[in-house]
Amino acid sequence: MRIWGISALSHDAAIAVVEEDRAVFAAHAERYSRLKNDRYLNQDIIDDALQFGEPDVIVWYERPLIKKSRQLWAGQYAFAMDLDDLPRRYLRRFRIPGRYKFEIVGHHMSHAASGFYPSGFDEACVITVDAIGEWDCMAVGTFTREGYRSLRKTRYPNSIGLLYSAFTRRCGFKPNEDEYIVMGLASFGTPRYVDAIYDDLIERRDGDYRLKRNVHRGIGDWLPEASPEDLAASIQVVTEEILVDIARWARRVSGLGNLVLMGGVALNCVANSRIARESGFDDFFIMPNPGDAGSSLGAAAAYVGLPLRWDGPYLGTRIDRPYRHREILDALVGGEVVGVANGRAEFGPRALGNRSVLSDPRGPDIQEKVNKIKGREPFRPFAPAILVERAHEYFDLPVQRSPYMQFVAPCRRPDLFPAISHVDGTSRVQTVSRSENPDFYALIEQFSERTGCPMLLNTSLNRKGEPLANSWDDAVGFAAATGVRVF
Ligand SMILES: [Fe+2]
Repeated sequence: MRIWGISALSHDAAIAVVEEDRAVFAAHAERYSRLKNDRYLNQDIIDDALQFGEPDVIVWYERPLIKKSRQLWAGQYAFAMDLDDLPRRYLRRFRIPGRYKFEIVGHHMSHAASGFYPSGFDEACVITVDAIGEWDCMAVGTFTREGYRSLRKTRYPNSIGLLYSAFTRRCGFKPNEDEYIVMGLASFGTPRYVDAIYDDLIERRDGDYRLKRNVHRGIGDWLPEASPEDLAASIQVVTEEILVDIARWARRVSGLGNLVLMGGVALNCVANSRIARESGFDDFFIMPNPGDAGSSLGAAAAYVGLPLRWDGPYLGTRIDRPYRHREILDALVGGEVVGVANGRAEFGPRALGNRSVLSDPRGPDIQEKVNKIKGREPFRPFAPAILVERAHEYFDLPVQRSPYMQFVAPCRRPDLFPAISHVDGTSRVQTVSRSENPDFYALIEQFSERTGCPMLLNTSLNRKGEPLANSWDDAVGFAAATGVRVF
């Protein structure tokens, strides 16, 4: 039995393929079309998925008619009346051979299943928080041997994700895309408007919240004198406080020790870290692709209804070339910034070693140098990829492992590693293990043996505004545009 999960037509279209109970393929449409956050599928990603065979079942990640009922209620008539985006009709545009059965799973169930089934947990509490799917914006439930049980739901327009997106727009950025910039900006500001946000916009309740007004279309020029930095710092604190409240409530009510966190809001690694420190849960799992794109895997997993065999996020296009450890290592030790495009592409927004730009993280100049290569602002920090066994020596991590860069941690020596330390002294850490990525692990291990430094600066193989490199051709294009050698 071969099951395709598909998420598309909202933002970040993606396909995942599950063969019996194993995740064998998962990728984003944008990597093929080269259009960032592409909401549409394309024949190239479908052809890549077809390398694993024709689908027996295609599972769509949300219920389109329920979504349309919410769009009608919200006055989004153009979306609600557009029948070309009904999934079955939409899929007829593509060449998908074979006779497949078509199924649908609810939006938040897709989120929850994409987190729980690959988690390796026997049972877990699952919190899913996003901007909006059908009607639900937040859901808390448990997965146990008896299946899924819902504990709490919050419906549109009560969305903490929409509130964060409204602040993203208020700060001058693009909602639904640039939330990570607001999270980064928050450390440059003072959270002086936290009380004002609670007074005007959102009410905290025990493990829940209510918006005081509908913020779907933004908050206009709320507090016109306030600086973007202070607004960002304030909404970040409010978001963290509300998420910690929800997680503590979930811990108390569920009685379970494992937490799975999913939905687009779980991309907020600063909030994730507070939840890890303050919620009382013992262990955490966030699938490396917690947003709607990851729900392609969740839709398929929910249909299967069994724990997934999951070897990590390296599930996309394969670049089949020998891993040139020696040359990469010599270049890195010699102070060169290098690209690596090898093996299967990462499923999720982060480059985790297979489509990465790497360098020695030490020294005062490296941050500006790599930002220049990537066309980003000179102050933007990078992430460290560190041998998992050495991570706690260098970072005060709130979790044992952070294999997908989903948690931030104070760096114990930010003076030595300014390129990977944010202005507040924290880093978004990737812990690298031999089992998940043996080539990348061996490279960092050898770098450590040669230099004494058990980590590398790791950033995505793309320039600002582009999707991550997918194919070897994309990697060659990056090398030509930047002068960086790609191996
Ligand atoms: Fe979602």
